[in-house]
Amino acid sequence: MTINSNSSSKDSFTTKTNAPQPIVQSATPTEQILPNVDNIVPNFRLDDYVTVVTGGSGGLAHTLCQALLLQGSSLALVDLDLLKLKDVRDKLNSFIKQNNITPKNSNPVKISIWECDVSNSNEVNEIVSKITSEHDGTIPFKLVHTAGFCNNIPAEQYDPVKAEYLVKVNLMGSLYFAQALTNLHLTSQNIPKNRRRLSISTKVDETKNNIDDKVVVDALALPNFKGKVSFVFIGSMSGLIVNTPQPQVAYNMSKAGVIHMVKSLACEWAKYGIRINCISPGYIATDLTKKVISQSAEGAALQKEWTSRIPLGRMAEPKEFVGAMLYLLSDNASTYTTGENMIIDGGYTCW
Ligand SMILES: NC(=O)c1ccc[n+]([C@@H]2O[C@H](COP(=O)([O-])OP(=O)(O)OC[C@H]3O[C@@H](n4cnc5c(N)ncnc54)[C@H](O)[C@@H]3O)[C@@H](O)[C@H]2O)c1
Repeated sequence: MTINSNSSSKDSFTTKTNAPQPIVQSATPTEQILPNVDNIVPNFRLDDYVTVVTGGSGGLAHTLCQALLLQGSSLALVDLDLLKLKDVRDKLNSFIKQNNITPKNSNPVKISIWECDVSNSNEVNEIVSKITSEHDGTIPFKLVHTAGFCNNIPAEQYDPVKAEYLVKVNLMGSLYFAQALTNLHLTSQNIPKNRRRLSISTKVDETKNNIDDKVVVDALALPNFKGKVSFVFIGSMSGLIVNTPQPQVAYNMSKAGVIHMVKSLACEWAKYGIRINCISPGYIATDLTKKVISQSAEGAALQKEWTSRIPLGRMAEPKEFVGAMLYLLSDNASTYTTGENMIIDGGYTCW
């Protein structure tokens, strides 16, 4: 091998043998000899995406929405009360202005608001069918489902109607949103309903060493969103442990259901390249919980009891869930993550 370090010409590198090349070949390194580092460090930008955020007027959602806007995503906010939603939209629009959020090389972010009770599947389907046109034809690829609530009622006194409604909101509402959005995506790809599933009778004929023909055709007909369609559900550590001292059987049941729903959907819809994950928070200090704690002696005692059980010794701030959300929504950080339940609880469930 001849190395002529006085010349920058590629021709001066004349390889005469198969011996390994020296790492530094020239005083002026060329692109060829630098390692390719593209895509090693993930990108968490969400420019040109529309993210549906249910429970969009809520305490956790507010911080998550700010983070989504900063990453360039437009928002479709869903909640029970249109007036509250308008107020939230105004606040977030001011946030956009204050922070001068004008994504480069992409459309300006936009916020739409949608009044909907997530426990009503008709309402869910109706608003999901309208979001795309409100966002100039952009189908919402990302979902952050935070809608939910908790009742603290002793199990023996729990009115069945109340318990059923809670489970309908927290658990069934999650399923309705996942279904409505997935059907929207599949319809957008013009896949007829009867060809949307890999037949359960997927079978290999061992004598012919062949896969059933029809199954192959159906498999080829499937769309593949390559993990870019990503749904994040907010579960709770209450889906894994029983909180104390407050009784909340229906809430705990509903959140356990959300965690297992996520795993089931992740398995069913992996074939479409749709990823579904869950974040399970411990106690969060939102405006609402802060108010409860500060306004009564009972609230203060409750907080003391809770924090005594948290290894990190404090409640979480909403912003401590932003990293997990962006990881799970990202197009290239979490491509191999689906069906996961990320427990972010200051260590509560370790003891
Ligand atoms: N705050 C906590 O300590 C904590 C802990 C673990 C999990 N979580 C979960 O995090 C999520 C957000 O909680 P948060 O603390 O922000 O509470 P929050 O009450 O501030 O927000 C929840 C939002 O969901 C909306 N909502 C309730 N029922 C609805 C329905 N039927 N249809 C549409 N929207 C509905 C509410 O109006 C509210 O705006 C919830 O799912 C909650 O269970 C909260």
